[in-house]
Amino acid sequence: MGKRSVSSFLILVVLCSALVAIVGGAYEDEGRRGEAGGGEGGAGWSEGGGAGAGGGEEGGAGMRQGQDQFLLRDSEYVVKTDAGDVRVVRGVGGRFIKSPLHIGFITMEPRSLFLPQYLDSSLVLFVRRGQAKIGHIYKDKLVEKNLKTGDIYRIGAGFPFYLNNTAEGQRVHIICSIDTSDSVGLQPFQSFYIGGGRYPASVLSGFDPFTLSMALNVSIVEVGELLSRQIGGPIVFHNVSHSPWTKFLNLEDHQKLAHMKRIVHIGKEGEEEEKKQPMWSLRKFLMTSIFGSENKKREVKRGSSEGRDPYNIYDKKPDFKNDYGWSIALDKSDYSPLDESDLGIFLVNLSAGSMMAPHYNPTATEYGIVLRGTGTIQVGSPNGSLAMNAEVKEGDVFFIPRFFPFCQIASRTGPFEFFGFSSSARNNKPQFLVGEDSILKILRGPELAKAFGLSEERLDEIVDAQSGSTIFPSATVAPPGVILGLQVEVGKAKEVAKMIRTFGNDKIMDFD
Ligand SMILES: *[C@@H]1O[C@H](CO)[C@@H](O)[C@H](O)[C@H]1NC(C)=O
Ligand SMILES: *[C@@H]1O[C@H](CO)[C@@H](O)[C@H](O)[C@H]1NC(C)=O
Ligand SMILES: *[C@@H]1O[C@H](CO)[C@@H](O)[C@H](O)[C@H]1NC(C)=O
Ligand SMILES: *[C@@H]1O[C@H](CO)[C@@H](O)[C@H](O)[C@H]1NC(C)=O
Ligand SMILES: *[C@@H]1O[C@H](CO)[C@@H](O)[C@H](O)[C@H]1NC(C)=O
Repeated sequence: MGKRSVSSFLILVVLCSALVAIVGGAYEDEGRRGEAGGGEGGAGWSEGGGAGAGGGEEGGAGMRQGQDQFLLRDSEYVVKTDAGDVRVVRGVGGRFIKSPLHIGFITMEPRSLFLPQYLDSSLVLFVRRGQAKIGHIYKDKLVEKNLKTGDIYRIGAGFPFYLNNTAEGQRVHIICSIDTSDSVGLQPFQSFYIGGGRYPASVLSGFDPFTLSMALNVSIVEVGELLSRQIGGPIVFHNVSHSPWTKFLNLEDHQKLAHMKRIVHIGKEGEEEEKKQPMWSLRKFLMTSIFGSENKKREVKRGSSEGRDPYNIYDKKPDFKNDYGWSIALDKSDYSPLDESDLGIFLVNLSAGSMMAPHYNPTATEYGIVLRGTGTIQVGSPNGSLAMNAEVKEGDVFFIPRFFPFCQIASRTGPFEFFGFSSSARNNKPQFLVGEDSILKILRGPELAKAFGLSEERLDEIVDAQSGSTIFPSATVAPPGVILGLQVEVGKAKEVAKMIRTFGNDKIMDFD
């Protein structure tokens, strides 16, 4: 009985989702067509000028009838700076193919750096010409390889990497596939910059300064220093000074405008797109995880699952434990039936005031249920704004999209305990942004320092201030005045960052 109504409910959900998918698909096509019309034509390397997305070719994108109907002529810049650019030719998607393969063209000028980042898509790089050093976090280590013409290299979704064109006088041209099957739905792919400042924003910028000050164990002023300097965009020259922002502020207005024109970010930052995204993720989750797993579970029940023993989560030793809390994660290696549902399970207990450090899940979305106490969940957007800052209490359920940085903080009144599912039975190794063994520590070096616009020594000081890992104690309370003042500062910084982006996009419109 109960089971039947569950399955008819699921069928209903799937029908609705399918409907939404079809309607959504149609909208996406519409949006894409409009946008491609404004984009640049031609898929060859664009040498020098031709920066602005002028009138482009008239309207038609996607499939054309006739002899050239399988030529993908339209491309769009997703990154464009003085030091390099990334252009994408969208693959053929649409109503029924939800995750097309896109083709990316990365060009980097001599002595330039593509800032450390991870993507929601996996890449297979082909070095067409030139050479570059790639730094890549793989199995919790920084792997550095020198790539030369003809080399092929794969970077999985969610794994941080940077590219350094070390050559004195040679551009590097890279062609890559962009596999969007893991995509969070932001098109054509979404970068999450590890190091950054005002432009591009670091994934850390999404957290409020007080949270970051607690996580990094540095003052709020130092947090400001870390997250305010970079304005050069995603690809920067090695030789540009450490504080281009101050220089920028000192320019005359017409010079600022000229500078802006050069560093415009021609991205698809449409708010509609981003608003659509949570629903899309939810739909994807429903389609792939819950429905898929229900199906499989039913098949299994008929067969061999009889007589399997349950697994008690409290019998497992915490995977991590310190004075401020502990956490347990279960995957299929602990309890094999989880594999059939493709789900993982976690349980976390934070003592009063403690924090689960900012981290992201490279392979899974996460649903959490508060078992005890109250706390705050903060989630950052890839563009460096705060996507969520919510107080939760016992019984509340929260959702964390894959790749989005987040942290949980227990309120000061008592312990905060939560349980949850992650949408992958494989060991979903969360990637910590801060603390021992964190991405900031693994990636540190000239590239990361450059990305934050700091000297290596200064970056080391900031990164080394936090010697703990995973769960951090509560911060000493700062006097309210300090926080207020700082929030005003940070607010101003965010305004300016927003201005740069809007300004950039506006400029592109009437720029030829
Ligand atoms: C940095 O290097 C680039 C290319 O090598 C050059 O065009 C530019 O003028 C240099 N900028 C400075 C500030 O030295
Ligand atoms: C969680 O930690 C608190 C102390 O911070 C402790 O009192 C409580 O028993 C713990 N909960 C579980 C389920 O172990
Ligand atoms: C890039 O590579 C060059 C040459 O190996 C090196 O000097 C430089 O420190 C690296 N990183 C940056 C950000 O310049
Ligand atoms: C935080 O920084 C203080 C010095 O400012 C240091 O004494 C303390 O050990 C640091 N805590 C951690 C967990 O690294
Ligand atoms: C950043 O993205 C969020 C949605 O994730 C959006 O609400 C916000 O306006 C964006 N902020 C900027 C400065 O573009």
